[in-house]
Amino acid sequence: MKIKFSNISQPTLNSKIFADFKKNPPAFFALPKSDFSEIEKFAAKNKQWRQVLIIGIGGSSLPARTLTAALSGKNSPEFYFLENLDPTSAKRIFTKLDFKKTLVIVISKSGGTLETLANFFVVKKFLGNAWRKQVVVITESEKGFLRELAKKEKLTTFEIPAEIGGRFSILSPVGLLPAALAGANLGELLDGARKADARKALNFAQLQAAEFQRGKNITTFCVYADTLKGFAKWWEQLLAESIGKSSKIGITPEIAVGVTDQHSKLQLWADGPNDKFFTFLGVRNFGKDFKIPNPPKDFGFLKNKSMQQILQAEFLATTKSLVERRRPLAILEIEKIDEESLGKLAQFWMLEVYFLGKLLKVNPFSQPGVERGKILTKKILKPTN
Ligand code: PA5
Repeated sequence: MKIKFSNISQPTLNSKIFADFKKNPPAFFALPKSDFSEIEKFAAKNKQWRQVLIIGIGGSSLPARTLTAALSGKNSPEFYFLENLDPTSAKRIFTKLDFKKTLVIVISKSGGTLETLANFFVVKKFLGNAWRKQVVVITESEKGFLRELAKKEKLTTFEIPAEIGGRFSILSPVGLLPAALAGANLGELLDGARKADARKALNFAQLQAAEFQRGKNITTFCVYADTLKGFAKWWEQLLAESIGKSSKIGITPEIAVGVTDQHSKLQLWADGPNDKFFTFLGVRNFGKDFKIPNPPKDFGFLKNKSMQQILQAEFLATTKSLVERRRPLAILEIEKIDEESLGKLAQFWMLEVYFLGKLLKVNPFSQPGVERGKILTKKILKPTN
């Protein structure tokens, strides 16, 4: 993974933070070393499911969305996600599902998230009496409603290590089980994660923190591949929920997909307020590509150019135009979208956000604002005596 910066001055590495990290790394850093053989066994024995319904929200659903969108192939099952409690989306999903042929994965670290459980209770009724054979639970090892239910009903269960929080759990069963069902090679994914460069992540965090302190309180992340949309959504949560912790500290994430969003946001980025730090992620090789065979005369310059070549030309042109306007910019490029690059990217951003927390002196692993909302919702829904 190559990173190039423009309109940004390079800091010297914060050796104190790096030394602390080496001595006492965060819990998620060890995930790529964990044993994933049970997950692989399960995926190998469960190839018959052609539809997989994932029920979870936030850090318990975005990892699965990220990896299944990026790594699914022609033999992968179809993945569906129930996150929100919107009955219209639920109805659309339910009409597409053949419940007899659907594997249901319920994911919740706490095992008690209202939206996830409400969706699960609805789905359980559709599954009928055989539901126990079709439901897999991914939850914390010790406590929580889902853990108790899984024990009582003897459901297949995978554990989320107690010390790993939702948005940092992509390399735990939360991301690995759906990825394995999609047919991804977990060894390569975790190998990629092990190759993530912690020094580069700290360097990136230092640059982003410095830009934030100079008034760039928005970070725009633009990915040039549709199959990385899920990854951008996951990154958005990682940055927002981990760093937004006080009235003075918080970076607002903005996500975009190139080239599509050039036609909706580029005008603002180029000529609007200079309040953003930009990160562009490009892909060098998409594999299968399509050439433009015989374009009309006016578009003769497209002859024999491929979709990928045009997309890459636009990537280059857009980043150049922002550099010309003196916007601070980071350009990341990966060779291709595969297990290794996804593993590396995921671990890189988790490290980057962890270091950002250290630099801006906030705890990246808590979410008191979200917890408060959960408590108030329960209060509204509970009948008063
Ligand atoms: O990142 C987080 O911690 C949150 O987004 C949680 O993942 C989300 O609130 C869902 O929580 P749980 O996994 O306990 O159902």
